[in-house]
Amino acid sequence: MNKSLRKAVIAGNWKMNKTRPEAKELIEAIKPLAVGADCEVVVCVPFTNLETAVEATKGTNIHVGAQNCHFEKSGAFTGEISADMLTELGVEYVVLGHSERRQYFGETDETVNKRLKAALEAGLKPIVCIGELLWERECGITEEVLGKQCKLDFFGISAEDMKKTVIAYEPVWAIGTGKTATADQAEEACAYIRSVIAKMFDKATADAVTVQYGGSMNAKNAAELLSKPDVDGGLIGGASLKAPDFGVIIAAAKE
Ligand code: PGA
Repeated sequence: MNKSLRKAVIAGNWKMNKTRPEAKELIEAIKPLAVGADCEVVVCVPFTNLETAVEATKGTNIHVGAQNCHFEKSGAFTGEISADMLTELGVEYVVLGHSERRQYFGETDETVNKRLKAALEAGLKPIVCIGELLWERECGITEEVLGKQCKLDFFGISAEDMKKTVIAYEPVWAIGTGKTATADQAEEACAYIRSVIAKMFDKATADAVTVQYGGSMNAKNAAELLSKPDVDGGLIGGASLKAPDFGVIIAAAKE
């Protein structure tokens, strides 16, 4: 991380886990571990836990995020939630374009771009996930894939909005598989993403944008991953459901 240039963000992505009482319990356990954190701490919880999470984190340094939002403001979109519905609840962050959304729910770069614009307009801080499949890495096209995703997902947004957006580099082969990218692989990809942002916008924007790593980040490997200059935090799935592990990762962001 380079904290002199940008903000480190450690975000838990709870995915489809935790009922409301369980969510409250986990947040209560995370609270003391987040005190004095030298990074932005975020918990991205299921829609049904948002209100509970906002309530439970009041007066703390823990911020609450959702895991998706729709691009329209309202209307006939059964099952969807708008960005305004999230801000009205006190939600600050929203994960967009997670590979599970892309893989299982037909999310495309085009819809990610539309959702990003809606989220920014509503004043949410988006965490946009990009990353290559194993097959794409093996074929040697990781940079092409990341470049294309940046160009499509961040199309038509201002440099100011780009600076407010967190990018999560999540190699799809590392998500929930226990296979972490090596710290060097993470650094290489995060630095490449930053170089694409510099070309699309300018160097100041690229220097300011937070680029997280995500994919089997845990209490054991976090410190090494976060020691890399272009890895500005993490988007953590499995390990964010265990308060002590998430606490170790938050602490690792202090180094
Ligand atoms: P994981 O998930 O840490 O369980 O691999 C990361 C993510 O999907 O954001």
